[in-house]
Amino acid sequence: MAFQVSKLATRVSLSNSVGLISSAENRCPSHVKSVSKFAQSLTERSFHTLCSAGKGLLRSQMVFPKTQWEKVSTASISLLSLKPRGSIRVALGAVGLSAAVIATLHTGTLLAMSERTHLNLHSPNTDWKESKNQLCSMDRENRRKVYKDYIPLEKILVWTPSGDSFCSPHCKPNEELNKKISLFCGDITKLEIDAIANAANKTLLGGGGVDGAIHRGAGPLLRKECATLNGCETGEAKMTGAYGLPARYVIHTVGPIVKDLVGKREEQALRNCYYNCLHTATKNHLRTVAFPCISTGVYGYPPDQAVEVALKTVREYLEENHEKLDRVIFCVFLKSDKELYEKRLSAYFPQACRPVSDIS
Ligand code: APR
Repeated sequence: MAFQVSKLATRVSLSNSVGLISSAENRCPSHVKSVSKFAQSLTERSFHTLCSAGKGLLRSQMVFPKTQWEKVSTASISLLSLKPRGSIRVALGAVGLSAAVIATLHTGTLLAMSERTHLNLHSPNTDWKESKNQLCSMDRENRRKVYKDYIPLEKILVWTPSGDSFCSPHCKPNEELNKKISLFCGDITKLEIDAIANAANKTLLGGGGVDGAIHRGAGPLLRKECATLNGCETGEAKMTGAYGLPARYVIHTVGPIVKDLVGKREEQALRNCYYNCLHTATKNHLRTVAFPCISTGVYGYPPDQAVEVALKTVREYLEENHEKLDRVIFCVFLKSDKELYEKRLSAYFPQACRPVSDIS
Protein backbone atom coordinates (compact mmCIF):
# COMPACT_ATOMS: atom_id res chain seq x y z
CA MET A 1 0.00 0.00 0.00
CA ALA A 2 1.58 3.24 -1.05
CA PHE A 3 2.48 5.40 1.89
CA GLN A 4 1.17 8.84 1.09
CA VAL A 5 2.49 11.91 2.87
CA SER A 6 0.51 14.32 0.86
CA LYS A 7 -0.39 17.52 2.65
CA LEU A 8 -2.85 18.39 -0.04
CA ALA A 9 -6.13 18.65 1.74
CA THR A 10 -6.62 22.09 0.28
CA ARG A 11 -9.47 23.78 2.09
CA VAL A 12 -11.48 25.69 -0.44
CA SER A 13 -14.72 26.14 1.39
CA LEU A 14 -15.60 29.76 0.76
CA SER A 15 -19.06 31.26 1.15
CA ASN A 16 -21.25 30.94 -1.91
CA SER A 17 -22.33 34.34 -3.25
CA VAL A 18 -22.44 34.33 -7.00
CA GLY A 19 -24.34 37.14 -8.72
CA LEU A 20 -25.80 36.34 -12.17
CA ILE A 21 -23.67 39.19 -13.59
CA SER A 22 -20.53 37.26 -12.77
CA SER A 23 -21.75 34.10 -14.49
CA ALA A 24 -20.33 33.57 -17.97
CA GLU A 25 -23.71 33.03 -19.66
CA ASN A 26 -25.15 36.49 -18.84
CA ARG A 27 -26.20 38.08 -22.19
CA CYS A 28 -27.19 41.52 -20.79
CA PRO A 29 -24.53 43.88 -22.42
CA SER A 30 -25.18 42.68 -26.00
CA HIS A 31 -28.95 42.61 -25.37
CA VAL A 32 -29.09 46.20 -24.02
CA LYS A 33 -26.98 47.54 -26.99
CA SER A 34 -29.54 46.18 -29.50
CA VAL A 35 -32.34 47.89 -27.55
CA SER A 36 -30.58 51.29 -27.70
CA LYS A 37 -30.29 51.03 -31.56
CA PHE A 38 -34.09 51.26 -31.81
CA ALA A 39 -34.28 54.19 -29.35
CA GLN A 40 -33.89 56.85 -32.09
CA SER A 41 -36.99 55.97 -34.09
CA LEU A 42 -39.38 55.13 -31.28
CA THR A 43 -42.80 56.78 -30.73
CA GLU A 44 -43.70 57.59 -27.12
CA ARG A 45 -45.98 54.54 -26.72
CA SER A 46 -43.50 51.98 -28.03
CA PHE A 47 -40.83 53.69 -25.90
CA HIS A 48 -43.03 53.13 -22.80
CA THR A 49 -43.59 49.52 -23.83
CA LEU A 50 -39.89 49.08 -24.40
CA CYS A 51 -38.96 50.58 -21.04
CA SER A 52 -41.31 48.38 -19.07
CA ALA A 53 -40.40 45.31 -21.19
CA GLY A 54 -36.71 46.16 -20.90
CA LYS A 55 -37.09 46.63 -17.16
CA GLY A 56 -38.75 43.26 -16.77
CA LEU A 57 -36.29 41.57 -19.12
CA LEU A 58 -33.18 43.10 -17.61
CA ARG A 59 -34.28 42.29 -14.13
CA SER A 60 -34.92 38.69 -15.10
CA GLN A 61 -31.63 38.49 -17.04
CA MET A 62 -29.30 39.78 -14.41
CA VAL A 63 -28.83 40.81 -10.84
CA PHE A 64 -29.53 44.46 -11.53
CA PRO A 65 -30.36 46.75 -8.57
CA LYS A 66 -34.06 47.48 -9.00
CA THR A 67 -33.82 50.98 -7.59
CA GLN A 68 -31.15 52.10 -10.10
CA TRP A 69 -33.15 50.86 -13.09
CA GLU A 70 -36.40 52.32 -11.68
CA LYS A 71 -34.77 55.76 -11.18
CA VAL A 72 -33.41 56.01 -14.70
CA SER A 73 -36.45 54.70 -16.54
CA THR A 74 -38.94 56.61 -14.32
CA ALA A 75 -37.08 59.88 -14.93
CA SER A 76 -37.11 59.41 -18.71
CA ILE A 77 -40.76 58.34 -18.75
CA SER A 78 -41.92 61.28 -16.59
CA LEU A 79 -40.08 63.73 -18.92
CA LEU A 80 -41.82 62.13 -21.89
CA SER A 81 -45.24 62.42 -20.21
CA LEU A 82 -44.88 66.25 -20.57
CA LYS A 83 -45.72 65.65 -24.28
CA PRO A 84 -42.65 67.41 -25.74
CA ARG A 85 -42.62 68.09 -29.52
CA GLY A 86 -41.19 65.65 -32.16
CA SER A 87 -37.38 65.58 -32.17
CA ILE A 88 -37.13 66.65 -28.49
CA ARG A 89 -39.33 63.67 -27.64
CA VAL A 90 -37.11 61.24 -29.55
CA ALA A 91 -33.97 62.84 -28.06
CA LEU A 92 -35.46 62.51 -24.54
CA GLY A 93 -36.38 58.92 -25.33
CA ALA A 94 -32.86 58.22 -26.47
CA VAL A 95 -31.41 60.03 -23.44
CA GLY A 96 -33.67 58.04 -21.12
CA LEU A 97 -32.85 54.73 -22.69
CA SER A 98 -29.16 55.36 -23.19
CA ALA A 99 -29.00 56.48 -19.55
CA ALA A 100 -30.59 53.15 -18.69
CA VAL A 101 -28.08 51.38 -20.94
CA ILE A 102 -25.14 53.19 -19.37
CA ALA A 103 -26.50 52.58 -15.88
CA THR A 104 -26.92 48.93 -16.71
CA LEU A 105 -23.52 48.52 -18.28
CA HIS A 106 -21.89 50.62 -15.58
CA THR A 107 -23.59 48.61 -12.89
CA GLY A 108 -22.86 45.43 -14.75
CA THR A 109 -19.21 46.38 -15.10
CA LEU A 110 -18.92 47.43 -11.49
CA LEU A 111 -20.52 44.23 -10.30
CA ALA A 112 -18.43 42.23 -12.78
CA MET A 113 -15.28 44.03 -11.63
CA SER A 114 -16.13 43.41 -8.03
CA GLU A 115 -17.01 39.87 -9.05
CA ARG A 116 -16.14 37.57 -6.19
CA THR A 117 -16.67 34.12 -7.65
CA HIS A 118 -16.86 31.91 -4.63
CA LEU A 119 -16.97 28.17 -5.03
CA ASN A 120 -17.96 25.92 -2.23
CA LEU A 121 -16.06 22.86 -3.43
CA HIS A 122 -16.31 21.05 -0.11
CA SER A 123 -20.05 21.09 0.31
CA PRO A 124 -21.68 17.85 -0.86
CA ASN A 125 -24.76 19.88 -1.82
CA THR A 126 -22.92 21.98 -4.42
CA ASP A 127 -23.87 21.18 -8.02
CA TRP A 128 -20.73 19.57 -9.54
CA LYS A 129 -21.68 20.53 -13.11
CA GLU A 130 -22.05 24.21 -12.28
CA SER A 131 -18.78 24.26 -10.31
CA LYS A 132 -16.97 22.44 -13.12
CA ASN A 133 -18.25 24.94 -15.72
CA GLN A 134 -17.31 27.87 -13.52
CA LEU A 135 -13.81 26.53 -12.94
CA CYS A 136 -13.36 25.85 -16.67
CA SER A 137 -14.40 29.40 -17.54
CA MET A 138 -12.06 31.03 -14.98
CA ASP A 139 -8.68 32.36 -15.97
CA ARG A 140 -5.61 31.00 -14.17
CA GLU A 141 -5.38 33.98 -11.83
CA ASN A 142 -8.88 33.38 -10.48
CA ARG A 143 -8.41 29.63 -10.32
CA ARG A 144 -5.31 30.13 -8.20
CA LYS A 145 -7.55 31.70 -5.54
CA VAL A 146 -9.25 28.30 -5.36
CA TYR A 147 -6.27 25.99 -4.91
CA LYS A 148 -3.43 28.30 -3.72
CA ASP A 149 -0.82 25.50 -3.24
CA TYR A 150 0.59 24.46 -6.63
CA ILE A 151 3.67 23.77 -8.77
CA PRO A 152 3.45 25.63 -12.11
CA LEU A 153 4.64 23.95 -15.31
CA GLU A 154 7.58 26.32 -15.58
CA LYS A 155 8.92 24.84 -12.33
CA ILE A 156 8.80 21.29 -13.73
CA LEU A 157 12.10 20.84 -15.59
CA VAL A 158 12.45 19.10 -18.90
CA TRP A 159 14.34 15.83 -18.38
CA THR A 160 18.06 15.79 -19.16
CA PRO A 161 20.14 12.70 -18.36
CA SER A 162 22.63 13.13 -15.53
CA GLY A 163 26.26 12.27 -16.37
CA ASP A 164 27.42 10.35 -19.45
CA SER A 165 24.51 8.01 -19.93
CA PHE A 166 25.49 5.52 -22.57
CA CYS A 167 22.97 5.43 -25.44
CA SER A 168 20.96 2.26 -25.69
CA PRO A 169 19.76 0.78 -28.97
CA HIS A 170 16.05 1.10 -27.88
CA CYS A 171 15.17 4.31 -29.73
CA LYS A 172 16.76 6.83 -32.06
CA PRO A 173 17.72 10.17 -30.46
CA ASN A 174 15.01 12.77 -31.11
CA GLU A 175 15.57 16.16 -29.48
CA GLU A 176 12.02 17.28 -30.33
CA LEU A 177 10.54 14.43 -28.30
CA ASN A 178 13.08 14.72 -25.48
CA LYS A 179 11.97 18.31 -24.89
CA LYS A 180 8.49 17.05 -24.08
CA ILE A 181 9.50 14.77 -21.22
CA SER A 182 9.83 15.52 -17.49
CA LEU A 183 10.63 13.35 -14.50
CA PHE A 184 9.08 14.86 -11.36
CA CYS A 185 9.53 13.37 -7.92
CA GLY A 186 6.69 14.39 -5.61
CA ASP A 187 2.96 14.76 -5.16
CA ILE A 188 1.01 14.65 -8.44
CA THR A 189 -1.88 16.54 -6.83
CA LYS A 190 0.21 19.70 -6.70
CA LEU A 191 0.89 19.94 -10.44
CA GLU A 192 -0.73 22.92 -12.16
CA ILE A 193 -1.09 21.36 -15.59
CA ASP A 194 -3.88 20.36 -17.96
CA ALA A 195 -4.44 16.83 -16.68
CA ILE A 196 -3.17 14.36 -14.09
CA ALA A 197 -3.77 10.65 -14.55
CA ASN A 198 -5.27 8.79 -11.61
CA ALA A 199 -4.48 5.14 -10.81
CA ALA A 200 -8.08 4.41 -9.88
CA ASN A 201 -10.14 1.28 -9.29
CA LYS A 202 -13.10 0.14 -11.36
CA THR A 203 -15.68 1.95 -9.21
CA LEU A 204 -13.95 5.32 -9.75
CA LEU A 205 -15.23 6.23 -6.28
CA GLY A 206 -11.81 6.72 -4.67
CA GLY A 207 -9.56 4.52 -2.60
CA GLY A 208 -6.06 4.68 -1.17
CA GLY A 209 -2.72 5.57 -2.72
CA VAL A 210 -2.66 8.22 -5.41
CA ASP A 211 -6.41 7.71 -5.94
CA GLY A 212 -7.09 8.69 -2.35
CA ALA A 213 -4.74 11.68 -2.58
CA ILE A 214 -6.45 12.96 -5.73
CA HIS A 215 -9.94 12.60 -4.27
CA ARG A 216 -8.90 14.33 -1.04
CA GLY A 217 -7.37 17.23 -2.93
CA ALA A 218 -10.26 17.57 -5.36
CA GLY A 219 -12.99 17.38 -2.72
CA PRO A 220 -16.39 15.63 -2.76
CA LEU A 221 -17.51 16.99 -6.13
CA LEU A 222 -14.99 14.70 -7.86
CA ARG A 223 -16.69 11.64 -6.43
CA LYS A 224 -20.09 13.09 -7.37
CA GLU A 225 -19.01 13.43 -10.99
CA CYS A 226 -17.28 10.02 -10.96
CA ALA A 227 -20.50 8.44 -9.72
CA THR A 228 -22.16 9.45 -13.01
CA LEU A 229 -19.56 7.61 -15.12
CA ASN A 230 -20.65 4.02 -14.39
CA GLY A 231 -17.16 2.91 -13.43
CA CYS A 232 -14.20 2.14 -15.67
CA GLU A 233 -12.80 -1.08 -17.10
CA THR A 234 -9.14 -2.07 -16.73
CA GLY A 235 -7.04 -0.24 -19.33
CA GLU A 236 -9.79 2.28 -20.10
CA ALA A 237 -9.63 6.02 -19.31
CA LYS A 238 -12.38 8.48 -18.28
CA MET A 239 -11.97 12.22 -17.71
CA THR A 240 -13.52 14.47 -15.05
CA GLY A 241 -13.01 17.95 -13.65
CA ALA A 242 -10.34 18.41 -11.00
CA TYR A 243 -12.26 20.79 -8.68
CA GLY A 244 -9.98 21.77 -5.75
CA LEU A 245 -6.82 20.57 -7.53
CA PRO A 246 -4.40 22.80 -9.49
CA ALA A 247 -4.77 20.51 -12.53
CA ARG A 248 -7.67 21.34 -14.83
CA TYR A 249 -8.79 17.76 -15.35
CA VAL A 250 -8.29 14.26 -13.92
CA ILE A 251 -8.04 11.31 -16.30
CA HIS A 252 -8.94 8.18 -14.37
CA THR A 253 -7.57 4.85 -15.52
CA VAL A 254 -7.60 1.39 -13.97
CA GLY A 255 -4.37 -0.57 -14.11
CA PRO A 256 -4.05 -4.37 -14.16
CA ILE A 257 -3.76 -6.28 -10.89
CA VAL A 258 -0.70 -8.55 -10.83
CA LYS A 259 -0.95 -11.49 -8.44
CA ASP A 260 2.16 -13.45 -9.36
CA LEU A 261 3.75 -13.12 -12.80
CA VAL A 262 3.17 -10.40 -15.41
CA GLY A 263 1.59 -12.01 -18.47
CA LYS A 264 0.83 -10.59 -21.93
CA ARG A 265 -2.66 -9.61 -20.73
CA GLU A 266 -1.37 -7.50 -17.84
CA GLU A 267 1.31 -5.90 -20.00
CA GLN A 268 -1.24 -4.99 -22.69
CA ALA A 269 -3.66 -3.63 -20.07
CA LEU A 270 -0.98 -1.37 -18.59
CA ARG A 271 -0.02 -0.19 -22.05
CA ASN A 272 -3.69 0.62 -22.72
CA CYS A 273 -3.78 2.74 -19.55
CA TYR A 274 -1.00 5.04 -20.77
CA TYR A 275 -2.20 5.10 -24.36
CA ASN A 276 -5.88 5.80 -23.50
CA CYS A 277 -4.94 8.54 -21.03
CA LEU A 278 -2.84 10.29 -23.69
CA HIS A 279 -5.54 9.79 -26.30
CA THR A 280 -8.20 11.21 -23.95
CA ALA A 281 -5.97 14.21 -23.30
CA THR A 282 -5.22 15.00 -26.95
CA LYS A 283 -8.86 14.37 -27.96
CA ASN A 284 -9.79 17.12 -25.48
CA HIS A 285 -6.98 19.41 -26.68
CA LEU A 286 -5.05 19.10 -23.42
CA ARG A 287 -1.33 19.54 -23.89
CA THR A 288 0.33 18.76 -20.53
CA VAL A 289 -0.25 15.44 -18.78
CA ALA A 290 1.31 13.77 -15.70
CA PHE A 291 1.32 10.06 -14.86
CA PRO A 292 1.82 8.36 -11.51
CA CYS A 293 3.40 4.88 -11.62
CA ILE A 294 0.17 3.14 -12.48
CA SER A 295 -0.46 -0.30 -10.93
CA THR A 296 2.91 -0.46 -9.11
CA GLY A 297 1.43 0.07 -5.64
CA VAL A 298 -1.59 -1.84 -4.34
CA TYR A 299 -2.04 -3.58 -7.69
CA GLY A 300 1.38 -5.18 -7.46
CA TYR A 301 2.85 -4.63 -10.92
CA PRO A 302 6.65 -4.94 -10.56
CA PRO A 303 7.98 -1.35 -10.96
CA ASP A 304 11.03 -2.45 -13.00
CA GLN A 305 8.69 -4.01 -15.57
CA ALA A 306 6.05 -1.25 -15.42
CA VAL A 307 8.64 1.41 -16.23
CA GLU A 308 9.44 -0.29 -19.56
CA VAL A 309 5.73 -0.33 -20.55
CA ALA A 310 5.21 3.29 -19.47
CA LEU A 311 8.24 4.70 -21.31
CA LYS A 312 7.75 2.62 -24.46
CA THR A 313 4.05 3.52 -24.76
CA VAL A 314 4.67 7.24 -24.21
CA ARG A 315 7.57 7.24 -26.67
CA GLU A 316 5.53 5.56 -29.39
CA TYR A 317 2.54 7.85 -28.76
CA LEU A 318 4.73 10.96 -29.01
CA GLU A 319 6.28 9.75 -32.28
CA GLU A 320 2.79 9.65 -33.79
CA ASN A 321 1.29 12.71 -32.02
CA HIS A 322 4.15 14.98 -30.93
CA GLU A 323 2.42 18.10 -32.28
CA LYS A 324 -0.54 17.52 -29.95
CA LEU A 325 1.41 17.50 -26.67
CA ASP A 326 3.80 19.93 -24.99
CA ARG A 327 4.79 17.89 -21.94
CA VAL A 328 4.40 14.38 -20.54
CA ILE A 329 5.48 14.21 -16.89
CA PHE A 330 6.41 10.97 -15.18
CA CYS A 331 5.49 11.76 -11.58
CA VAL A 332 7.25 9.36 -9.22
CA PHE A 333 6.57 9.30 -5.50
CA LEU A 334 9.14 6.83 -4.22
CA LYS A 335 12.92 7.23 -4.37
CA SER A 336 13.18 3.73 -5.83
CA ASP A 337 10.91 4.76 -8.71
CA LYS A 338 12.92 7.93 -9.28
CA GLU A 339 16.13 5.88 -9.63
CA LEU A 340 14.38 3.43 -11.95
CA TYR A 341 13.14 6.17 -14.30
CA GLU A 342 16.48 7.98 -14.27
CA LYS A 343 18.12 4.76 -15.35
CA ARG A 344 15.63 3.83 -18.08
CA LEU A 345 14.61 7.19 -19.53
CA SER A 346 17.76 7.47 -21.65
CA ALA A 347 16.90 4.13 -23.25
CA TYR A 348 13.63 5.53 -24.65
CA PHE A 349 14.55 9.21 -24.88
CA PRO A 350 18.28 9.08 -25.64
CA GLN A 351 20.22 12.24 -26.10
CA ALA A 352 22.01 12.66 -29.41
CA CYS A 353 24.76 10.10 -29.06
CA ARG A 354 28.39 11.13 -29.08
CA PRO A 355 30.60 8.59 -30.86
CA VAL A 356 31.78 5.97 -28.38
CA SER A 357 35.39 7.06 -29.10
CA ASP A 358 34.52 10.45 -27.47
CA ILE A 359 33.40 8.79 -24.22
CA SER A 360 36.78 7.18 -23.41
N1 APR B 1 1.51 11.52 -6.09
C1 APR B 1 2.14 10.73 -6.98
N2 APR B 1 2.24 9.37 -6.86
C2 APR B 1 1.69 8.82 -5.75
C3 APR B 1 1.00 9.57 -4.77
C4 APR B 1 0.93 10.98 -4.98
N3 APR B 1 0.30 11.81 -4.12
N4 APR B 1 0.56 8.72 -3.80
C5 APR B 1 0.97 7.49 -4.17
N5 APR B 1 1.65 7.54 -5.33
C6 APR B 1 2.29 6.44 -6.08
C7 APR B 1 2.66 5.21 -5.32
O1 APR B 1 3.90 5.40 -4.66
C8 APR B 1 2.77 4.20 -6.46
O2 APR B 1 4.09 4.29 -7.02
O3 APR B 1 1.36 6.00 -7.05
C9 APR B 1 1.78 4.71 -7.51
C10 APR B 1 0.55 3.84 -7.68
O4 APR B 1 0.20 3.24 -6.45
P1 APR B 1 -1.34 3.11 -6.01
O5 APR B 1 -1.86 4.43 -5.67
O6 APR B 1 -1.41 2.03 -4.97
O7 APR B 1 -2.10 2.64 -7.34
P2 APR B 1 -2.21 1.18 -7.97
O8 APR B 1 -1.07 0.33 -7.65
O9 APR B 1 -2.56 1.42 -9.40
O10 APR B 1 -3.48 0.56 -7.22
C11 APR B 1 -4.74 1.13 -7.46
O11 APR B 1 -5.11 1.34 -5.15
O12 APR B 1 -5.46 3.32 -4.15
C12 APR B 1 -6.10 2.22 -4.63
O13 APR B 1 -8.25 3.03 -5.34
C13 APR B 1 -6.98 2.57 -5.79
O14 APR B 1 -7.93 0.43 -5.84
C14 APR B 1 -7.02 1.28 -6.49
C15 APR B 1 -5.62 0.74 -6.32
